[in-house]
Amino acid sequence: MSTTDTIPTTASDPTAAAAVAQLLSPVVLGLQALTINGKQAHWHVRGSNFVGVHELLDDVVTHAADFADAAAERIVALGLPVDARLGTVARAVPTTAVPAGFTRSTKIIAAVVAEIDAVLTDVRAAVDGLDTIDPASQDVAIEIIRGLEKDRWFLLAHDTAD
Ligand SMILES: [Fe+2]
Repeated sequence: MSTTDTIPTTASDPTAAAAVAQLLSPVVLGLQALTINGKQAHWHVRGSNFVGVHELLDDVVTHAADFADAAAERIVALGLPVDARLGTVARAVPTTAVPAGFTRSTKIIAAVVAEIDAVLTDVRAAVDGLDTIDPASQDVAIEIIRGLEKDRWFLLAHDTAD
């Protein structure tokens, strides 16, 4: 069996499984990118609120990795593979607003929120697309929206520009 073969399953019909893979794969890739770029932000944030933002960014990273795992494993549970190799992630998310060097917290928060918003666009599309296809997969996507929106709120609440 090659790595591209599907795993035999009776858990879902093939058409539904294919739709789930199509809709959740971009979510997996975006969340994997958020995991990497969030760490970059965690390491380079600067400002008087350093400790709070530094630690919060690590929470964002942990949550993004957990959400990616949930979405990827939902696809695999239905019998299809996910291509979330590094090169595939980089092609899906080729740029980030997170800078390469030390950055003030206000700017780095805005960059990470922009990356969260990009993922949210894909997750909301998944929720819409899965509505009549597979409620269990839609539930995974809804759970991710809830978590990302909470992290987004926490990040913006640390923005001391106002
Ligand atoms: Fe750390």
